[in-house]
Amino acid sequence: MNNLLMEVENEIAVVTINRPKSLNALNSETLTELEQCLGEIEKRKDVKVVILTGAGEKAFVAGADISEMKDATAAQGRDMAFLACRTFGKLENMPQVTIAAVNGFALGGGCEISMACDIRIASENAKFGQPEVNLGILPGFGGTQRLPRLVGKGRAKELIFTADMIDAQEAYRIGLANKVVPLADLLKFCKEMAAKIISKGSYAVSLAKMAINTGLDIDLASGLKLEADLFGLSFATADKKEGMSAFLEKRPANLTDF
Ligand code: CAA
Repeated sequence: MNNLLMEVENEIAVVTINRPKSLNALNSETLTELEQCLGEIEKRKDVKVVILTGAGEKAFVAGADISEMKDATAAQGRDMAFLACRTFGKLENMPQVTIAAVNGFALGGGCEISMACDIRIASENAKFGQPEVNLGILPGFGGTQRLPRLVGKGRAKELIFTADMIDAQEAYRIGLANKVVPLADLLKFCKEMAAKIISKGSYAVSLAKMAINTGLDIDLASGLKLEADLFGLSFATADKKEGMSAFLEKRPANLTDF
């Protein structure tokens, strides 16, 4: 992989987008590598949480690569958006929990890839924004769809129409960032959160992720039916037996399913 770093430790995969000279801008090669990398991770039983971050201390991801897009045709622009859509869809729907460790600029495609993650933890120097209209284009990696789902239609329209950049505290205030921590503590904080999630019933967490993601795209009655089905499915697991027995026997549970 030319543009990604990946390390796995304690059931956590840290995937780093590694193009610091371009502020980790997403070109097609990087997106293709990320699609392959996530495709491999989603099959692994020894990885339960994925932390996605950017190389260096300045940027998470400063957007899609403008130098690649400059001379791209309409068809190429659409292909790039479909590639990002497939790649970000993996982050959103893989059985593992995905955490974006937003360590600086998260602009355009950078904000969009963070929104495809389950949870966003921002460093104090992080900046979020959808500046595409400055370039005569609109968000194309999910911004018009995921931003309003996260922060509401009015705020999403304001951010996209004005191209304003917001700081980490404002992102936290509007619900775009889950937490804000000092840059020096960012990865440690994300790994601690990952360890806490891993200590729970991982199969149950993965079913909850499926219920939330699918439920938000369907009507409430169908979502509640889906939840009931997945709730029932969780009763078939060893973790359910162990978790409930441990509670009643007043001992710590040893949850191992995934
Ligand atoms: N694509 C390609 N290269 C980029 C880039 C991007 N999105 N963002 C930054 N770079 C490059 C710069 O061209 C520069 O390269 P050189 O050193 O070779 O000149 C290098 O990264 C450092 O950037 P700056 O010198 O501009 O750094 P700065 O500190 O002055 O500014 C910044 C930082 C505010 C993030 C500024 O770089 C910037 O505005 N970047 C573009 C942000 C943007 O418009 N993103 C949206 C892209 S479109 C998109 O993402 C569409 C979509 O929905 C998918």
